[in-house]
Amino acid sequence: MSRFFITGTDTDAGKTVATCQLLRAFVVQGFRSIGMKPVASGCEWRQGELCNGDVARHATAGSVHAPLEWVSPYRFEPPISPHLAARQAGMPIDLDHLVECAAQLEQLSDVLLIEGAGGWLAPLSDEACMEDLAVRLNAPVILVVGMRLGCLNHAFLTARAIMQSGLPFAGWIANRIDPDMDCYAENLACLRKDISAPCLAEIAYSQDATNLALPAECIDAIRPFCAAGGKPD
Ligand SMILES: Nc1ncnc2c1ncn2[C@@H]1O[C@H](COP(=O)(O)OP(=O)(O)OP(=O)(O)O)[C@@H](O)[C@H]1O
Ligand SMILES: [Mg+2]
Repeated sequence: MSRFFITGTDTDAGKTVATCQLLRAFVVQGFRSIGMKPVASGCEWRQGELCNGDVARHATAGSVHAPLEWVSPYRFEPPISPHLAARQAGMPIDLDHLVECAAQLEQLSDVLLIEGAGGWLAPLSDEACMEDLAVRLNAPVILVVGMRLGCLNHAFLTARAIMQSGLPFAGWIANRIDPDMDCYAENLACLRKDISAPCLAEIAYSQDATNLALPAECIDAIRPFCAAGGKPD
């Protein structure tokens, strides 16, 4: 059983796109794979239930289905920071509960990809942020860099914070979210030079980005971080 925590340089960096492409790549290789969105704001009511687009996309990309209460335990309607949404809803985010939900999902799968909300230090409460959740989950981290102007600073700060957390830093993914970014190759080279973790993949700009799969080499690169015995017979 393996778990990874997917963080990003910002909200809208492409965490969901990268998570879906990773899920599909794991599925292609025969892993029972599932996504988790522990905390989601900006949800919509559908048939009496608060639903989140990230969760729906994970479900389509993965190969395991599990109760919504486990894959997306905290869902809030307003599209605001989770700690504010939780406060408004009177529903404090309990890290212990999230750890328990992740453990339930692990019973059903070989690979669990946990997508954060916002960036690495996005608050979950007055006391805890996304980093604290990742540490509680003890999950190797994959950073998604949304390639656009300003991403170098965001990426270096986040990479530094991930390394300071003590968690394994499995690698980072360059997601070409802005197809018109000037000097893309030079920016990519700068990131490759100064982030000590490996660049796992580049995701091209595509209208179909959520429905694609990362190449097998990407899975090979993070395989050292997978717990032994995760692959099905
Ligand atoms: N490689 C890409 N090509 C084209 N569009 C992309 C790409 N990556 C992301 N997008 C688009 O950018 C938007 C944000 O991407 P995504 O939802 O994956 O970000 P996120 O980091 O998961 O955001 P959030 O913090 O809300 O969870 C989406 O509309 C998505 O389709
Ligand atoms: Mg997302």
